[in-house]
Amino acid sequence: MSKTVTDNTLQAIISHAKEYGFVFPSSEIYDGLSAVYDYGPYGAQLKKNIRDDWWKSMTQMNENIVGIDAAIFMHPTTWKASGHVDSFSDPLIDNKDSKKRYRVDHLIEAHADKLMEEAAKANDGVALRDLAKQLIADMEVLLANDDFAGLGALIQTNKIQCSVSGTSNWTEIRQFNLMFSTELGSVAEDANTIYLRPETAQGIFVNFLNVQKTGRMKIPFGIAQIGKAFRNEVIARQFIMRMREFEQMEMQFFVRPGTEMQWYAYWKEARLKWHLALGTSNLKYRYHDHAKLAHYANAAVDIEFEFPFGFKEVEGIHSRTDFDLKQHQEHSKKKLQYFDNDLDEQGKPYGNYVPYVVETSIGVDRMFLLTMCNAYCEEDLSEGDKVDSRVVLKLHPALAPIKATVMPLTKKDGLPEKARVIMDAMKFDFNMQYDEKDSIGKRYRRQDAIGTPFCITIDYETLENDTVTIRHRDSMQQERVAIKDLKSLIQNQVAWENLLK
Ligand code: GAP
Repeated sequence: MSKTVTDNTLQAIISHAKEYGFVFPSSEIYDGLSAVYDYGPYGAQLKKNIRDDWWKSMTQMNENIVGIDAAIFMHPTTWKASGHVDSFSDPLIDNKDSKKRYRVDHLIEAHADKLMEEAAKANDGVALRDLAKQLIADMEVLLANDDFAGLGALIQTNKIQCSVSGTSNWTEIRQFNLMFSTELGSVAEDANTIYLRPETAQGIFVNFLNVQKTGRMKIPFGIAQIGKAFRNEVIARQFIMRMREFEQMEMQFFVRPGTEMQWYAYWKEARLKWHLALGTSNLKYRYHDHAKLAHYANAAVDIEFEFPFGFKEVEGIHSRTDFDLKQHQEHSKKKLQYFDNDLDEQGKPYGNYVPYVVETSIGVDRMFLLTMCNAYCEEDLSEGDKVDSRVVLKLHPALAPIKATVMPLTKKDGLPEKARVIMDAMKFDFNMQYDEKDSIGKRYRRQDAIGTPFCITIDYETLENDTVTIRHRDSMQQERVAIKDLKSLIQNQVAWENLLK
């Protein structure tokens, strides 16, 4: 019997991701670049499958949502209008002794975590637990009010120390803008400072009218986009959780003013449903309503997942009001309005207005990490004196990078040739692999480690009656099936529709 050993530590997943070609540190031969990562062959395919799932579920399953692909570089005024030049920043504090820099919220949260750990060890940890909770509550209020003096005092009164120097010798708190800038133009003096976009959303807002008019879109409608975003994160943490170059899947849903809270509730539920369709237990997810709202929002919630390091945000749903369109209207001096000829309760057309917006925004990389954490499993397969184990990625078959691997039992007697015929007939439909090296057992383990749901073994019986054995990754059960039935058997499992159930 197999037993799951839940050693779901982040470190094990990072090592596995590297060893099996999912994620590598960027430019590793030069010792890497902090908070930047490259995706290897299986990682790139898994990431593409995640993107495809999101894209189809947004644009193909909703007649009123269309996709675009806007440029990363945008006119610099975009970021002035959106508020990012003035307020896209994190409060930072430095320890004067170690020179180590901290994001203020991370420093305080780490201290609260420490108090919670001490509470768990203490006989009666109630007081410590209350202290930790109060600390977080106070921090949230102070952050919401941009009260840096108050935050500084909170750090001092709680005697929060630097993890390197062990002292509480802190600087003042300062704001640090997260946008990367560069120059457009070849002559330095004439060059314009432009930014690498910190979110894909603005590419949607500036194209609102182009899309609405050319697509003859009627409100309510959405515009979806997948693309790179860049943030000069001060503290890079937890592998691909917080990166400096990452990818977002965002959708802006344009609605009639006054209906935004209803759509906000709709998308909050719809997005959690998308997550749960991957087969994840709903106990692993929770909503977290924002106490501190971004400068553009009147309501915001995070969908959080329980990573090995605790519950963390994977996706945000934000009611962005008409802030962005109004700002772009003002800065560009171009009308960004919609003419609504539906009739209101008095029988009059709603007429011209700037639509309100509900946004759904998820990081591809964070979803990738979630998928790996959810799938990663160490199993003890020992029986009696025979010690055995495996690492298996129990990925949803529709997301698995390789759907099936064809394995001739031996490298001779016509088995490889037969295996190739099967592989060639199926590779138009599925991403397949061919493997004839090592024992069948070792080959199974290799496929388990990359999450391949099916292994197809070609043996001597295959030559006689055109049947093969198919081995199922999770149950490790094998069954004999006719070659002619293989395609439909696999298709039933890997079909994208399964992700919508
Ligand atoms: N347009 C709204 C927006 O960008 P956000 O909460 O800053 O909102 C949305 O980001 C999502 O993008 C997050 O929930 C997360 O999944 C992802 N994300 C944000 N910053 C990230 C980073 N530094 N590294 C990886 N993913 C990130």
